[in-house]
Amino acid sequence: MAQSEPGKVYVHTFGCQMNAYDTGKIRALLGRDGWESTQDPDQADLVLLNTCSIREKAVDKMHSVLGEFRREKREGRQVLLGVAGCVAQMEGEALMKRYPDVDLVFGPDGVPHVRKLVDEVAAGNRVLDTTFLDLETYPFVTDLDPDASSGVGAFVTIQKGCDNKCTYCIVPATRGAEASRPSEQILDECRRLVAEGVQEITLIGQNVNSYGLKVPGERTFAQLLYAVADIPGVERIRYTTSHPRDMGDDVIAAYRDLPQLTSHLHLPVQSGSNKVLRRMKRFYTRERYLRIVDGLREARPDLALTTDVIVGFPGETDEQFEETMTLLDEVGFVGSFSFKYSPRPGTPSLRLKEGYDDAVSGERLIRYQDRQRELSLAWTRSHEGQVVRVLVEGESRHDEGVVAGRTGSNLMVNFPGSLDLIGQFVDVRVTRGFTHSSRGERVTPPTGG
Ligand code: 5AD
Ligand code: SF4
Repeated sequence: MAQSEPGKVYVHTFGCQMNAYDTGKIRALLGRDGWESTQDPDQADLVLLNTCSIREKAVDKMHSVLGEFRREKREGRQVLLGVAGCVAQMEGEALMKRYPDVDLVFGPDGVPHVRKLVDEVAAGNRVLDTTFLDLETYPFVTDLDPDASSGVGAFVTIQKGCDNKCTYCIVPATRGAEASRPSEQILDECRRLVAEGVQEITLIGQNVNSYGLKVPGERTFAQLLYAVADIPGVERIRYTTSHPRDMGDDVIAAYRDLPQLTSHLHLPVQSGSNKVLRRMKRFYTRERYLRIVDGLREARPDLALTTDVIVGFPGETDEQFEETMTLLDEVGFVGSFSFKYSPRPGTPSLRLKEGYDDAVSGERLIRYQDRQRELSLAWTRSHEGQVVRVLVEGESRHDEGVVAGRTGSNLMVNFPGSLDLIGQFVDVRVTRGFTHSSRGERVTPPTGG
């Protein structure tokens, strides 16, 4: 089906911040050619699914969403269908064969030239592009997400791909090798976002701590943090994701020096057992992880830590799982993304001789999540009665007349207030802590000053 004029494009995003960021770039690039972006899939002439393959569940979800659009298309709806992102990269050719009504398939490295790909599709061709681009000349997209100006915070990518070989992980296969984005380009994007009203920058990459290390003369990650903090108007800096192996003393020192760096760090540990960490090829021990945490807390006593954990990795014994449970308490994580091990195609973990048992993993996951919920609740409750400073991000999702803001330590506080507070720093007293958020009331600012 040929689509002679650009129309409306709807992008459905699955997965991580990388994908959310890529979606913004896709919309910005297609916008250059006149494609108007819409949040309503029914209005769209072009539907793109920006997919995730990190766990089997994410892939299943994508197939069901795609199935719905394919059904509409078979029933006569005039729409171009594309699959982008990590599943597209993994299953490229197979997707084209399995779904004859899919017009376009491209992986994460297709994003920079999405305009050309969509042009070819609009001209009536079926297009598959899963080639990885050259790392030395990787064309990071500099166009801003058209929606960036509506937010208080924005993501800025600092690298693409990943050179780690964690044995469970599909990302190196879907996003290819690591390339660092030139720091001047990163700083320029931060400046432009600040000019649009953004106050909180989240630097994103698969392994941000290794930023710049392979490029002679480039800033290190710590130096990049200082440079971003130097930009007037950047009130808060967050970043994700860090690998504990590369967490250097210079980054830890930045927590002492830079008030803009928020008091929250997401530092995925994956397991509390050294034997499991070795089989995962994480290249740190439980003891080293705890030393990093000590160093961070010395630099920033109120630092809130969150983590990622995989339970039921092949060969994980009851005792090894208990070590993850004790680590959870020892660190006192305020939140975790925790998952059952999910065997991913092509990953080295499939070749481990040790097996895994999904039912056992399920039981372990429940225990882990139950304990995490208790710790999260204890943390939010520990704020009750305290006055905290939040950056107001938007309207509460549940209640009218209530706005939501986050502290630097990432505590979400909902409190009665008007929408013109959005984008402001406000002092609120926390009145009640819940597992994932809290309630509060505004502390009336003193008048005359
Ligand atoms: N199975 C389960 N969880 C996984 N993750 C990555 N790969 C897998 C897998 N095969 C989790 C890790 C990672 C997070 C993004 O997803 O905890 O940090
Ligand atoms: Fe999912 Fe990983 Fe791809 Fe992000 S990089 S979309 S988490 S598979």
